[in-house]
Parts: sequence; structure tokens; C-alpha cells
Amino acid sequence: MLDTLSLASLGPVIPVIVIQRLEDAVPLAEALVAGGVKVLEVTLRTPVALQAMEAMAKVPGAIVGAGTLRSPQDAINAKNAGCQFGVSPGFTDALAGACQSAGLPLLPGVSTASEVMQANAAGYHFLKLFPAVAVGGINLLKALSGPFPDVAFCPTGGISLETAPQFLKLPNVKVCGGSWLTPQDAVDTKDWGRITQLAREASALR
Ligand code: 3PG
Repeated sequence: MLDTLSLASLGPVIPVIVIQRLEDAVPLAEALVAGGVKVLEVTLRTPVALQAMEAMAKVPGAIVGAGTLRSPQDAINAKNAGCQFGVSPGFTDALAGACQSAGLPLLPGVSTASEVMQANAAGYHFLKLFPAVAVGGINLLKALSGPFPDVAFCPTGGISLETAPQFLKLPNVKVCGGSWLTPQDAVDTKDWGRITQLAREASALR
């Protein structure tokens, strides 16, 4: 089973992807991989999300995870769709238990010190800070490094190409998440070249 921390060694940014049309799934994944972005978080927010994950997981070089896992059933569905990992906006023991039963590595979301402690108690030490900027961003990450020196973060929410370097400089930040690599207007116009360019810029951040 994949160790979620190993995802961070594959690139500095994990794109947060919303697929509205199934036909966009494969070319979008191919465009990101062509730009050097291999780890893809596909959110469970649209009716076609599970089919999109299944299709994207077959794109050579892509490592597809399911984002927006909220319930135990979401974890089962993501595993069945061929996802190699899951990401959740928050942390619950029920979701963590379902991921462990399904053999799905989880990057759980937290936004407070208490949630960090709950996730640690369940065995998770690599966590998504969400929504990163809204809950305190750089200052919060610096503050959390004191009591939690053994915890690494993937801040996500409100981060851009311009601000990502400030996050990636922090010792407890291993990778950032963000939706800026897949702007909806580029997907709508099937401008895969632009997405590859955005992926190249993101890959070069570290
Ligand atoms: C999300 O779950 O939508 C992510 O946090 C993406 O946030 P962003 O659009 O601010 O990058």
C-alpha cells in the first residue's frame, strides 16, 4: 500500500480536480502528466467523478486519488474505482476506519490542533491543512510546528502559483494542493496545452 508521504516526493503540487464531463477526464490527466504532474486528486463532487477516476487511473504515469471523501461508502467507492489514495476535507474515525478496512491510504484534512491530535491518534502524521489560507495559512503552519514536530502537512485551499513557494519553504510542508492547475475555462475550451503549461510551472516550484 502506498505511503501518502511518498506522494510529496513526486512533485510539489497536487492538483485538486473537479470533472464535470467524463470526456474531459483522460485528456486532462494526460495534459497534467505531460507537464510533470503525476499525482492527481479527483474530487467526489460531480456525478461522473467515480467514472472519471476509473478512466484517469489508466493514464500512464498518473497516480489518481479520490478527494472530498466524507463517508465510509466514499472510501469503498474510491477504492473500487481504482484510486491509489484518498483525501478528505476533515477527519472522522469512521472514515479513517473505512479507509483502513478498504486498504486505501488516506491524507486526512484537519484545521485545528485538536483535529491534528485526533488524526495522530488514528495513526496519521501526514495531514492536509484545509482550508489552508482561511484557517491561518503560513502563520498557523509555523505555530503547529512547535507542538507537532513530527507532523507534515499538505496545505490546500486558497493557494496559488504565486503563494505556493512561501508554503513550500516551511519545513513542515511537503507538498501543496490547489485547483489553479485546472481552471474550468481551460477545461471547457479543451485547452489542454494551457493545462500542461500550468502543470510545468507548478512542477518547477521546488
Ligand atoms: C478544494 O477542496 O476545493 C481545494 O481546497 C481547492 O482549493 P482552491 O480552489 O482554493 O485551490
